[in-house]
Amino acid sequence: MCGIVGVVGTRDVVPLLVDGLKRLEYRGYDSAGVATLVKSGALERRRAEGKIVNLQARLQEEPLQGLIGIAHTRWATHGAPNESNAHPHATERVALVHNGIIENYRELGEELLAKGHKFQSQTDTEVAVRLIDQYLIEGLKPEDAVKTALGRLRGAFALAILFHGETDLLIGARRGAPLAVGFGNGEMYLGSDALALAPLTDKIAYLDEGDWVVLSRDGARFFDADDKPVQRAVRPTAISGAMIGKGNYRHYMLKEIYEQPAVMGDTINTMVSPTDRWVHLPDLGIDLAKISRITIVACGTSYYSGLVAKYWLERYARIGVEVDVASEFRYREAPVDPNSLSIFISQSGETADTLAAMRYVKQNGGRTLVIVNVPESSMAREADGVLPTKAGPEIGVASTKAFTCQLVTLAAFSLAVARARKALSEAESAKLMAALMEVPAHAAEVLNHDEDLQALAEKIMDARDVLYIGRGPCYPLALEGALKLKEISYIHAEGYAAGELKHGPIALIDEQVPVIVIAPSDSLFEKTISNMQEVMARGGKVIFMSDKAGLAHVDERTFATVVLPQVEPFVAPILYAIPVQLLAYHVAVLKGTDVDQPRNLAKSVTVE
Ligand code: F6R
Repeated sequence: MCGIVGVVGTRDVVPLLVDGLKRLEYRGYDSAGVATLVKSGALERRRAEGKIVNLQARLQEEPLQGLIGIAHTRWATHGAPNESNAHPHATERVALVHNGIIENYRELGEELLAKGHKFQSQTDTEVAVRLIDQYLIEGLKPEDAVKTALGRLRGAFALAILFHGETDLLIGARRGAPLAVGFGNGEMYLGSDALALAPLTDKIAYLDEGDWVVLSRDGARFFDADDKPVQRAVRPTAISGAMIGKGNYRHYMLKEIYEQPAVMGDTINTMVSPTDRWVHLPDLGIDLAKISRITIVACGTSYYSGLVAKYWLERYARIGVEVDVASEFRYREAPVDPNSLSIFISQSGETADTLAAMRYVKQNGGRTLVIVNVPESSMAREADGVLPTKAGPEIGVASTKAFTCQLVTLAAFSLAVARARKALSEAESAKLMAALMEVPAHAAEVLNHDEDLQALAEKIMDARDVLYIGRGPCYPLALEGALKLKEISYIHAEGYAAGELKHGPIALIDEQVPVIVIAPSDSLFEKTISNMQEVMARGGKVIFMSDKAGLAHVDERTFATVVLPQVEPFVAPILYAIPVQLLAYHVAVLKGTDVDQPRNLAKSVTVE
């Protein structure tokens, strides 16, 4: 979603700001802009609709310089994605960039209109800049004007603010949307995440909820939500500029798909000891033997990893599990049982609905565990317990490696719960653990079929609709396959539980509709095969993903097959994620879509 960069520098900051914006491109955006204080002390800005290259072209036409500046990529919420709605928003006295939504913008807007302000955009953001401006007009100093304005804004936001004539002052604020402060050599930075600042500094401090910060070239002064001066820890960040390159890959998504064997291995290694080959969870402050129930809450692809975990936890650990999408859970006023455990899954750790759902459970006395990929994220910092995934920065908007790392984490966690509850024999646990430890090697084997999947993509790229079906823990993989295809290739796709097909969706099937059947040879295999027969009997084009034993069941009516390694069924859903990712990727490339930044999508969804 929107991205913020700010620099109080000792050199021309425009190239640094634009470079920072490029690092935030992965979050998804539809316009971009930059503002600086020019030599005279006046605020100047350049903005452009669309991609950052358009902003660069604007800067070529009309160059901008300055030793202090702010920049922004906007993902439209209020007002169309055009130049006049692009940030920074500014008056003569103040310029500001904003992530999030200001909820009371109407009420504040009316008050400001009555005071003679003339609005130039359709955004909620403009009220924030005009409110600060109003306090400056009334004679408050910049710091006091911001402090007073923050007290009146409702909603979720991160802000970076620049003032006319103040060549050594940049103010940031955080409420509901993350903001990081970077410490450089005689320079200071603001960024909506550490990635934006990666080439500039590895010394980062994060604002806590409600904090605001005053930056000058020689450091930062932090204030908490009650405006009291506070210290915030400055930590070295492990993110380097090199980690976020595309290497020799054409797209980040492809690079991230190929990283899966390595990052799944890293994730397993953080939990499983090579000596006793068993899961050692960090202290979660929870007795896994005594929990009554598990609730899993997440969004999108992370929700699907939670759905797979439901099958694992119920079957192997014999514990009841409920899984819900965060945007529904948070408003359902669900009762929170103090003896249950609530798990929140998120790549970014900042998804607004998942974060709000987690806070709801905490406020209602429940215990929270997060499975999260960004260790400095809000969820990681606020939860009772954290299981970190080690996927590394995920830049492609479509989640791939974060998903499979969530799955290996949840698989190991399920085995730990099973052991704590004595639900599995030693021998059975050891067999499943051995299978999990072999997943990275099998994942590398699956990647060897990339060319076959590319050839298959050519056969389905012209389809209008594609269906995915699976059973048991492979049903969520059908959902994930459909989501991947629709989000990056814009082909309509749906995932169904294979047994559900005949209750309605089978009406969609004709000779034009590819149906991707995800069917490892497990205890549900024969049932899935029956459903596949039902599809073929109606002329559907079946693409059958299975292992060698499963493929023995295909007949000449099968449109295409994809062969996967023969593995213990427990780990099959993890491996079957890879062909569905690759298929969606190749279809999107053939269709010429923007694979890494698909239209309308944002990487980190920080608004509800
Ligand atoms: C799909 C995708 C999204 C995210 C969802 C949750 O490819 O990436 O559906 O999974 O927005 O994001 P996180 O995991 O950051 O909470």
